[in-house]
Amino acid sequence: MKNWTYKNFTIHQFETLDSTNVKAFEMAASRQIFADEIILADAQTAGRGRLQRVWDSPKGNLYFSLVLQPQGFVAEISFVAIVALRQAISDLLSVLELNVQNKWPNDLLINEKKVAGILLESKFNQKNCEFVILGIGVNIDSSPDKAIFPATSLKNFNIAITSEILLQKFLDKFEILYQNWLSFGFAGTRAIWLKSAYKFGEKILIKLGDELIEGIFQDLDIDGSLILLTKDGVKKIAAADILLGA
Ligand code: BTN
Repeated sequence: MKNWTYKNFTIHQFETLDSTNVKAFEMAASRQIFADEIILADAQTAGRGRLQRVWDSPKGNLYFSLVLQPQGFVAEISFVAIVALRQAISDLLSVLELNVQNKWPNDLLINEKKVAGILLESKFNQKNCEFVILGIGVNIDSSPDKAIFPATSLKNFNIAITSEILLQKFLDKFEILYQNWLSFGFAGTRAIWLKSAYKFGEKILIKLGDELIEGIFQDLDIDGSLILLTKDGVKKIAAADILLGA
């Protein structure tokens, strides 16, 4: 394990972990690490995705978890983070004019294929948030072939970057957007997020458990829920997947 710092952030870098989110959660819960500390791993043996999925984590990609101790509506942080990640990755791709979009709730797509995902976990105590673990995985060098959604990697667009540098580029963007969110609330993040949202205003197909629901992606609610206009009226969806290409 090696420790290093970048700006206000302290990074604890491991060669291999089961999951950076699990490690960060354990260390934050036992008060070994605090806000602005990061657990970074070169590879994970049990990387976790949203909705109990597995996150393939071979060496060569970026896997990290940032501890935060915010006041405010915690679910909004994943939107702040995806906006920051989109800005960081768009800067790398800017000459290529690729379509970098965020897909509700918190995936990042390049040309409609998933390149990154976020897993936000938190610990609450008597209604107060003790800490949040913001876990991010970015496919730099490889992407899984058998994922539920088509996936891609930065390498497919001829971007060569180390995970350490990509993490720093993310942190540059995130520290500004996060301070902005803390000071002024969700409206700014929401507006930027909507500008690059996959299928915003269009027909989408949502997978909610075993149910498929079709509708128009009408809005992003103030709490980060998706507002879907269906034939049975307006539905507010807190957690589900938008099916790609549907
Ligand atoms: C998703 O899209 O389903 C979320 C994927 C989140 C993966 C990252 S990799 C670093 C951190 N540690 C984990 O076990 N998961 C997150």
